[in-house]
Amino acid sequence: MSLFKIRIEPSGDCSQFTQGTLLMDALAEMGVFINTPCGGNGHCGKCRIQVEGWFSQTDDAKPHLVKDYEIPACRARLEGDAIVRLDREQGEHGNSGTSRQKHFPYAAVDIGTTTVKLRLSDFKSVQDDSFSNPQRRYGHDVISRIGAAADPVAASKMQSLIRGAIKNSVGQAQTVSFSGNTTMLYLLLGLDTSPLGHAPFTAPVRDFCTGSILNNEKVLILPVADAFIGADIVGGVSLVADRDSANIFFIDLGTNGEMALIRNDRKIPATSCAMGPALEGMNISCGISACTGAVTHIKEQCGRFNFQFDGDTPLGLTGTAMIDLLAILLKNGIIDHSGKLHKTSTLPQPAIFETGGIRFFENIIMTQQDIRNLQLAKGASLAGARLLLNRAGLDQKAVDKVYIAGAFGENLDIDNFRQLGFLPSFENADWSFLGNTSLQAAERVLTDADFFLHAKNIRDRMDSINLSSLPDFQREYLKALNFDNGQGGVT
Ligand code: FES
Repeated sequence: MSLFKIRIEPSGDCSQFTQGTLLMDALAEMGVFINTPCGGNGHCGKCRIQVEGWFSQTDDAKPHLVKDYEIPACRARLEGDAIVRLDREQGEHGNSGTSRQKHFPYAAVDIGTTTVKLRLSDFKSVQDDSFSNPQRRYGHDVISRIGAAADPVAASKMQSLIRGAIKNSVGQAQTVSFSGNTTMLYLLLGLDTSPLGHAPFTAPVRDFCTGSILNNEKVLILPVADAFIGADIVGGVSLVADRDSANIFFIDLGTNGEMALIRNDRKIPATSCAMGPALEGMNISCGISACTGAVTHIKEQCGRFNFQFDGDTPLGLTGTAMIDLLAILLKNGIIDHSGKLHKTSTLPQPAIFETGGIRFFENIIMTQQDIRNLQLAKGASLAGARLLLNRAGLDQKAVDKVYIAGAFGENLDIDNFRQLGFLPSFENADWSFLGNTSLQAAERVLTDADFFLHAKNIRDRMDSINLSSLPDFQREYLKALNFDNGQGGVT
């Protein structure tokens, strides 16, 4: 396969890549992390950069000569030598596109499989940042990343990609704290991930002592409990455990759904299920992460859809908007309990049925496959919660509080979420959404040395359950896919 050269202007950096390399992947290897809110689906246009050279598109293999024109870095593949012209902001801080003049001495980082979130702080002011995990080309879930990391070259590439992207965002921070799932932390530290991917799925290293890994900074990393019970859920549970004598169900919704049942002074059963990145706006044709133009809420008023977003043009739907939309479609009989789309006269305006889905705007269409991907997330979450309750011998009616955490949006409509049946009904519980508790826990260790010890104690109380080893899992999962909360099978 031919090798082609990319030159970045104005820095003059050069590097060679094989034919067909995706432009955003090539740039990430050169230390430039382009903002990709729609995860490379090609509909948000936020990753457009000015180039000169031969490129093909992921959906059109024919090479085209592009001269001083902006193309989406997530769709363009290298077909010849190329020049990339970055503006100042892209060149200096390509992760999020947010310009940062201020120096922040502290940084908390939550490394998610799909999205990395950061909070920079000097304890008087904070600045949030986020970017797509640049390791995604090695797979969209932890299992595929573990598989890819079996090749030492790929493992080292994944380590340098994530370190480079974080370094780009934290700048000269002197203390950096980390949370994240076990696989993401192992890849960050260059630890062997193979025991995480094979039975009996153990994490040989659960506490991390480390020196600087980015830039001479002090590093704090929250502990993990097991291969699939990472620092993200240990941190989140540590924020809410032992506040009172309530029975608490806690779930952190992301590419994995990590959940735990917390009862005072008792063992804490905890598990994790693969939900896929749908709620983070990925593997959904119109999905997007938070940015200007991202629709965060949808309501139905007087037979019309009301879309809530910043900016002039809606670019895609976030996880919270997709939850709202599914609830509206279900209420109007446009999708049935099995998730099947029906062409009815009850579709609110302005939206039209098209082959394969419903179009809301020129670039926003919800397909049957999108609905299926959201159902897979719902099925995994509901089945996992039911099995966790079974294992703990606790009836869902005995749960007093439900805490939902997650990085997929701070504005979840809990009524819509409940109506769709992502979890058991927990009818006697108070429900709250806590936001990104993994990041909050990472932030807490920056200011509270006791919290680190508390997190270790909580971790030691955790009893990890491997769902796939339970004989009932597959049956429960299939039952839980339906929107009727598991009364029947999927048609
Ligand atoms: S990330 Fe390229 S178009 Fe959205």
